[in-house]
Amino acid sequence: MVERQRLNCRKFVGINNSYKLAMGSKDIISEIKQLRKDRNAIILAHYYQIPEIQDIADYVGDSLGLAQQAANTNADMIVFAGVHFMAETAKILNPDKLVVLPDMNAGCSLADSCPPQAFDQFLKQYPDHLVISYINCSAAVKTMSDLICTSGNAVQLVEALPKDQKIVFAPDKNLGAYINQITGREMVLWDGTCEVHDILSTEAIIQMKIENPDAELIAHPECKATVLALADFIGSTTALLAYTSKSKAKKFIVATETGILHQMQRNSPEKSFLIVPSDKTCHCNDCPYMKLNTIEKLYLALKNGQPAIELPAEVLDKAIKPIQKMLSMSLELGLIK
Ligand code: 13P
Ligand code: SF4
Repeated sequence: MVERQRLNCRKFVGINNSYKLAMGSKDIISEIKQLRKDRNAIILAHYYQIPEIQDIADYVGDSLGLAQQAANTNADMIVFAGVHFMAETAKILNPDKLVVLPDMNAGCSLADSCPPQAFDQFLKQYPDHLVISYINCSAAVKTMSDLICTSGNAVQLVEALPKDQKIVFAPDKNLGAYINQITGREMVLWDGTCEVHDILSTEAIIQMKIENPDAELIAHPECKATVLALADFIGSTTALLAYTSKSKAKKFIVATETGILHQMQRNSPEKSFLIVPSDKTCHCNDCPYMKLNTIEKLYLALKNGQPAIELPAEVLDKAIKPIQKMLSMSLELGLIK
């Protein structure tokens, strides 16, 4: 597990990206643009990436949007500026393409909270259950799943299933409990969490609400139930972003990862955004895995074609099925176009 670091603290969102990052005398941004063209590559970035990476990406989005982009791309190479399970998903969808992750150590505490062997044992207790896994899991866990979901479609996918369908949901117990609450289901939950969201304290949020009575609280469903109970709006990163654009509120307390503020501030420069900090010594809540990627590492990954995601053929064959099921159900339900 990566120790939570302060070095990527980005209190000052909307950082000016027009500066040139020196690599010898080269302009690294122009180099990336040229390499992307030469290699027919696409750069996909999650909202939790640093602003410089979001600004150079061909597409910035949440896990659902990123999976859809990966499924539809004509590029020969995918540079995935996100974490390992996301790049792995892109590889599963594109077994013949080169998929690189700027830093191979960019893992995910939530995916790590569901070790495949233990999950396999756990599932033996529920042989007649459908297995729904949140996309934040390893490829091995995906091979044991019937359906993948993201925070952008989880509630709708579960609601589309027959009411009497028995379900195991993994790995995020907070998202699972939220879905149970909304849908009235009693899904069996795997006991996993995201360290970035689960750490957010209800007390800190109440204090922020007292200090900012005009602010709306918006939260990602990976947060604890006590935090979600206080929220004015709950949704995936894309949904949170859309909400801040359309809401009449001028101030938001944001219970998710710091990176999302870059697009919120850009879409609504007249509004202000207060991130719920991970602790009292900081004004940010950075995912230490997402923030391992840097513009220099992205440049090197594009240039060298590594570190590349590789998966055994049998994993690729099995893991694609629940991902394709998610994409086809999402299309049918009008959740994606
Ligand atoms: P979404 O991209 O679905 O909003 O999830 C956030 C997250 O934790 C990704 O790691
Ligand atoms: Fe994983 Fe949480 Fe980081 Fe998302 S924010 S990549 S769920 S550790």
